[in-house]
Amino acid sequence: MRAVTWQGKRDVRVENVPDPKIEEPTDAIIRITSSGLCGSDLHLYEVLTPFMTPGDILGHEPMGIVEEVGAGVPDLQVGDRVVVPFQIACGNCWMCLTGLPTQCETTQVHGEGMGAALFGYTRLYGAVPGAQAEYLRVPQAQFGPIKVPEGPSDDRFVYLSDVLPTAWQAVVYADVPQGGSVAVLGLGPIGDMACRIAQVRGAGRVFGVDLVPERLRRARSRGVETYDLRSFDNEKELVAAIRDETDGRGPDAVIDAVGTEAHGSAAAKLAQTASAMLPRKISGPFAERFSVDRLAALHTAIDLVRRGGTISLSGVYGGTADPMPMLTLFDKQIQMRMGQANVRRWSDDIIPYLTDEDPLGVDDFATHRVPLSEAPRAYEMFQRKEDGAVKVLMQP
Ligand SMILES: NC(=O)c1ccc[n+]([C@@H]2O[C@H](COP(=O)([O-])OP(=O)(O)OC[C@H]3O[C@@H](n4cnc5c(N)ncnc54)[C@H](O)[C@@H]3O)[C@@H](O)[C@H]2O)c1
Ligand SMILES: [Zn+2]
Ligand SMILES: [Zn+2]
Repeated sequence: MRAVTWQGKRDVRVENVPDPKIEEPTDAIIRITSSGLCGSDLHLYEVLTPFMTPGDILGHEPMGIVEEVGAGVPDLQVGDRVVVPFQIACGNCWMCLTGLPTQCETTQVHGEGMGAALFGYTRLYGAVPGAQAEYLRVPQAQFGPIKVPEGPSDDRFVYLSDVLPTAWQAVVYADVPQGGSVAVLGLGPIGDMACRIAQVRGAGRVFGVDLVPERLRRARSRGVETYDLRSFDNEKELVAAIRDETDGRGPDAVIDAVGTEAHGSAAAKLAQTASAMLPRKISGPFAERFSVDRLAALHTAIDLVRRGGTISLSGVYGGTADPMPMLTLFDKQIQMRMGQANVRRWSDDIIPYLTDEDPLGVDDFATHRVPLSEAPRAYEMFQRKEDGAVKVLMQP
């Protein structure tokens, strides 16, 4: 089959690889019909390269048709239309039963000290072949795949794999009071969808911050009060502007949907580049220990949120030794919640919004649809935010 493979920093290629096969009774094989390109893939493209191996198949936002099922997957039939969550979880262990499939005790990657395995996401998360491919082997298929009805196009459902539950969890964790205010930093697919979900869940005011004109425009057209980072001399001014709109206190909640690719700190960018150039053996631990993160957005969130407010992180940060302003966090009595989205914890809450009325605007959420063969260009375009790219779907 054809698959999008990682070959090196900013180098992905479409290659012929062996077709996946059923290996365990709890596996299923899916023929992919749509597969998203995610901001998280950009981390692999550039920042997390020390954890990648050339030839790794990328992608974790698939939907498609069941081709084959193992004997231990009673609820799936060949021909079913399914969306596959980006995390692999058993549905049965203590963590899964608590609603935390991202911490699944059956698939945790013990060797790396990490949580549940993820599709197409570095050896830290199990080096599981990903979903930007013609076919996908789905482990733990007795739990993961979400059956969806025939009829509407893939666009209606494909975001259940990641974007929707991630944005939903970001908003739930943000704990925005009814009628209260929330600022969303970053208006990529996750931030944009978080704004929409905050609105349908009853936030009074939604502020959105980014620096890409069409992303700001997209959010503004749906009633988000947008702020262009480029029109401020520094983050303090941005914070002051939003504070002025919230009785001088700051919003009740801030969602960081930026993550480690943040624009802001030149010094951190240097460290990041330096670590990517190190020999492989040093590069991994170096990246973890010294942390090459760019924390600009997180620092803005801490400054911006009102005292006693909540910060919800869906942006992914990589390192362990970031200088965190603990004194400010403590003094401001800030609650902070974060983590990979627990897809099946939220999917049943989200599905009622995926109707013909389309309150979340999923039907025209994608800005680009490309065949697999165009994946290299799609990665480049998405990373550079060219050509109005916000959400790219690959259609094998
Ligand atoms: N928690 C999860 O389960 C989960 C799932 C999916 C994605 N993510 C993470 O969420 C983040 C966003 O994903 P995405 O697909 O929307 O990616 P994206 O890269 O398209 O979006 C990030 C946006 O942030 C903007 N930005 C950069 N610096 C900024 C700053 N200082 N202030 C405000 N905006 C800034 C960029 O212009 C961009 O539009 C990524 O870190 C991704 O890894 C997490
Ligand atoms: Zn994703
Ligand atoms: Zn489990």
